[in-house]
Amino acid sequence: MRAVGGLGAVAWVALLALLGWPSAAAGQQRVESCVTCHLETGDDRLADPVKRFGEDIHSAKGFGCVACHGGDAKEAGMEAMDPAKGYIGKPDRQQVQTVCGRCHSDARFMKRYNPALRVDQVTEYATSVHGRRLKELGDPKVAICVSCHPAHSIKPPSDPRSTVHPLKVAETCGRCHADAKHMEAYKIPTDQFQKYKESVHWRMMSIKGDLSAPTCNDCHGNHGAAPPGVTWVGNVCGQCHAVQAEFFAKSIHAKVFAQMGAPGCAACHSNHEIKEATDAMLGLGDNAVCAGCHAAGDKGGKAAVEMRALLDSLSGESEKARAILLQAERAGMEVSQAQFDLNGAKDALVKARAAVHAFTVQAVKKEGEPGFAIGAKAYARGVRALDELQFRRKGLAVSLVIILALIVGLVLRIRQLDRRS
Ligand code: HEC
Ligand code: HEC
Ligand code: HEC
Ligand code: HEC
Ligand code: HEC
Ligand code: HEC
Ligand code: HEC
Ligand code: HEC
Ligand code: HEC
Repeated sequence: MRAVGGLGAVAWVALLALLGWPSAAAGQQRVESCVTCHLETGDDRLADPVKRFGEDIHSAKGFGCVACHGGDAKEAGMEAMDPAKGYIGKPDRQQVQTVCGRCHSDARFMKRYNPALRVDQVTEYATSVHGRRLKELGDPKVAICVSCHPAHSIKPPSDPRSTVHPLKVAETCGRCHADAKHMEAYKIPTDQFQKYKESVHWRMMSIKGDLSAPTCNDCHGNHGAAPPGVTWVGNVCGQCHAVQAEFFAKSIHAKVFAQMGAPGCAACHSNHEIKEATDAMLGLGDNAVCAGCHAAGDKGGKAAVEMRALLDSLSGESEKARAILLQAERAGMEVSQAQFDLNGAKDALVKARAAVHAFTVQAVKKEGEPGFAIGAKAYARGVRALDELQFRRKGLAVSLVIILALIVGLVLRIRQLDRRS
């Protein structure tokens, strides 16, 4: 503190307090009697909330114990917890959503802090299986607000330490849903967490750090947790896979799957253990999803085989072109333009794969066609480059022969002259 002209630290704090400097003055005012007394009791149940609260978002925004529990924080004695002063004690499970909703459902109040924050948590929660079972059956095992946002250490989803940060959500839900004992009374599987951890989505998120890949709440809603109904699974996945969802929605499968009760995208991709897609999923081979419902004799089966053949030949053609261009490049020929153009065939392959979701041969053909043309052109360029190379090599050989002949002629001529002289 040498830079501040000789004033000691204590004097500075006093001066700032006199000037009404907010962090110095207000910070001291804010110490509630609740905090002081609860710490003094030495009882963990009473002191832990105080110790944890320091890192809670509500504490950071200037709220104290009274914001949720009521009471009078200016009273030093037990009168601080007088119900006549609004003290509610420890809210019971039914009460918690009312406590949180007092602020979080009040759009005008919340706007003063964060206009972008949603204010539908309580109403969404009421539509969830959790909220409905709590209200109708008083079910003690479903999630309430503080199951997912532990009271006294609540943090925004963007904070990596938060229980609802994208990388932590699966664990938070899994605490109940992967616990066979907790879920014993219900007739639903307890494998969602384990299967999700095997999925391409979790791998994208945890290994590649792509937080736009989905975790539990992206498919089930932040607060409206319910199994996506059979008819709207497509919309859930379509939030992110719009192209496939659009093709699918117009396909024959959208209609017949709804009648059969097959869960849309999940009928072929599963719901929690979604894997990378490969061409092997298409057709009637061992790993083909079509084989579950179609056989070689029916129209769907035939179409599946034909679509697969199209994709195989498209990827085969562009692979062939890529290989010949590489050979030419290694031999020193200039083929970079053709190599660049070949990316167009790759794009067409990507589009043709997405068009599989229309479930017609026509759609795959339409997207694939430009790729065949590009592949053929690139291959032809590779052939030409290699021809040119042959031509140049021959030319070089001929020139060498001529040069050699000239040298020999010259030597003979010189000897002849020598002999003459
Ligand atoms: C003088 C000490 C003291 C003060 C001040 C105090 N408390 Fe307490 N508080 C206690 C004790 C002791 C208990 C345990 C009482 C019991 O078990 O019946 C308790 C219990 C609680 C509980 C748990 C109630 C339950 O049903 O389990 C809550 C919540 C609570 N206090 C909140 C507050 C709040 C909010 C304030 C400030 C407005 C406050 N306390 C002020 C001593 C205090
Ligand atoms: C954002 C709202 C909120 C704030 C702020 C808050 N609490 Fe709580 N508190 C709760 C809820 C909700 C519960 C019930 C938790 C549960 O059911 O697991 C609770 C439970 C408690 C309990 C009972 C713990 C137990 O295990 O029985 C105590 C004691 C308590 N709070 C004290 C405090 C004190 C002291 C403060 C201030 C430092 C505080 N709370 C601030 C919401 C809050
Ligand atoms: C006294 C009003 C009030 C009460 C009661 C309250 N909150 Fe909050 N809460 C806020 C405010 C204000 C913020 C800060 C919003 C911001 O600035 O982003 C906040 C932030 C949050 C956040 C982080 C949101 C974000 O993305 O920034 C969560 C999660 C949260 N509260 C959950 C709860 C839960 C759960 C309860 C009940 C146990 C509760 N709150 C009770 C006012 C309240
Ligand atoms: C089953 C778990 C779960 C329950 C129960 C739950 N939340 Fe959340 N909450 C989440 C998740 C997950 C997010 C993160 C969403 C995101 O990534 O944006 C979240 C986010 C929030 C936010 C930040 C803004 C937003 O909506 O994204 C607030 C505020 C909030 N919850 C309040 C509540 C309140 C109030 C309750 C009780 C009515 C509650 N939550 C119940 C899981 C839950
Ligand atoms: C405190 C424990 C707990 C937590 C945490 C929890 N749940 Fe639940 N959840 C339950 C219980 C219990 C049920 C009721 C099961 C039933 O009725 O079939 C349930 C039901 C559901 C259902 C409806 C299942 C069905 O087919 O009926 C979905 C979906 C769900 N939870 C998703 C989630 C998600 C997503 C999260 C995390 C964001 C989560 N849950 C966190 C306990 C929990
Ligand atoms: C990519 C989207 C997606 C993600 C991520 C996801 N789910 Fe699901 N979940 C679904 C779909 C779709 C269904 C319904 C499938 C059906 O009807 O056959 C479902 C069903 C459920 C059910 C009902 C019981 C069951 O297994 O069929 C529960 C409970 C559940 N999910 C919990 C979770 C939990 C917990 C997580 C995170 C670990 C999670 N889900 C992640 C899409 C997803
Ligand atoms: C929140 C966004 C989001 C949601 C919702 C979502 N996904 Fe994904 N999905 C991604 C991301 C990101 C990737 C990895 C990047 C990529 O390959 O597109 C991915 C990858 C995939 C892949 C592997 C793609 C490949 O190239 O091999 C499949 C298959 C898939 N998702 C299917 C689904 C299905 C089915 C659903 C619904 C049950 C779903 N996704 C829901 C974002 C999402
Ligand atoms: C869950 C069962 C199921 C799966 C899996 C499935 N289909 Fe189908 N598909 C049907 C049903 C049912 C029909 C309508 C009745 C019929 O024509 O066989 C149908 C119809 C079709 C049709 C229209 C046939 C016509 O009558 O013109 C095509 C094409 C098709 N499927 C292709 C595929 C392909 C390709 C796959 C694999 C990627 C596939 N299907 C996977 C159930 C399925
Ligand atoms: C009838 C089976 C079936 C259904 C239903 C289905 N898919 Fe696919 N999906 C496939 C097959 C087969 C592939 C592999 C295509 C390839 O790579 O040759 C695939 C590939 C994908 C891919 C990887 C990228 C791509 O386009 O190849 C994504 C993402 C995807 N599907 C998402 C979805 C979504 C979202 C839905 C629902 C709207 C859905 N799928 C419905 C069979 C299906």
